[in-house]
Amino acid sequence: MILVTGATGKVGREATRQLLELGLDVRALSRTPEQAGLPGGVEVVAGSPADPTSLDEAFAGVSAALIVLSGEVADEAANVAAAARRAGLGRIVLLSSAGVLHPVPHGIADEHRAAEEAVRASGAAWTFLRPGPFHANTSWWIRTIRENGSVRCWIGNNPGAPVDEYDIASSAVSALTQDGHEGRSYLLTGPQTLTSREQARILGDVLGRELAFSVAPAEEVVEVFAGITGDRATAVTNVAALHSPRVPWAEPTTAVRDLTGREPRPYRRWAVENEALFAPEQSEQSQQSQQSEGSVV
Ligand SMILES: NC(=O)c1ccc[n+]([C@@H]2O[C@H](COP(=O)([O-])OP(=O)(O)OC[C@H]3O[C@@H](n4cnc5c(N)ncnc54)[C@H](OP(=O)(O)O)[C@@H]3O)[C@@H](O)[C@H]2O)c1
Repeated sequence: MILVTGATGKVGREATRQLLELGLDVRALSRTPEQAGLPGGVEVVAGSPADPTSLDEAFAGVSAALIVLSGEVADEAANVAAAARRAGLGRIVLLSSAGVLHPVPHGIADEHRAAEEAVRASGAAWTFLRPGPFHANTSWWIRTIRENGSVRCWIGNNPGAPVDEYDIASSAVSALTQDGHEGRSYLLTGPQTLTSREQARILGDVLGRELAFSVAPAEEVVEVFAGITGDRATAVTNVAALHSPRVPWAEPTTAVRDLTGREPRPYRRWAVENEALFAPEQSEQSQQSQQSEGSVV
């Protein structure tokens, strides 16, 4: 039995689907199993890495786990590691972040570093997947593209090689099901170095319309983040890191190919497959996507 946390999200849902396709037994953890919408054949159980009381049952009879953390990452990792230790779990694949390699100190990176540390100490054989920015981050642009065909970019316009959630999920499935990945960390990127402006151009090309593009200055983004969280100091360091040109995912890596045996998907493919999200009418799928917009890196 393989356990997937965050199984209703971008990476976990696709990883769950691929594991099922391989004929493996999959257990998915969700805070709201009745709304999970996962394929039949997946055992969906109630719980969350944020709720330590839900984890012993979730880990019972599990040989390997894909751990995706979406709330307080460090605290959730501590809960998961403790439960894994109690269960004597054999293998953990942790969805970490390329942010742990970032030269500029910031809170998101610290959270993921703490999560890796907890998992390292869990006693399970571990593999860390460290993706750069997801292709799906451009779904942040849905509202303004729908409203007026514009993109306001909050993460600066520095070049990087964003990665597709499909490839992160496939990499996770390889690490869960094949030997040889224990004790290894993989910096996952897509195949191309792109700026946000170039992504907007590709998306506009796919949508058949020219999109106006502008970059929000760091001070404006700090105001927005601090307004949401109430924590200005953390907003300042996170925004400084997001706007720093020295990103660890600046160049494509071979990690997806090393793990899956095939090339990672280009951004254009994501844009083609998700074109409907940007159409003026609000579809149910796009509402779900907007609701699941997550952290940055
Ligand atoms: N976006 C990026 O560019 C990027 C880059 C590198 C790393 N990452 C990391 O990737 C992870 C997120 O992966 P993802 O995008 O696949 O996940 P996601 O879609 O954001 O969420 C996965 C699931 O986690 C649960 N969840 C959401 N918010 C939660 C909260 N506040 N507390 C507890 N559970 C919550 C939800 O499941 P239920 O409602 O069913 O419980 C959700 O479906 C994060 O650790 C993030 O730091 C992201």
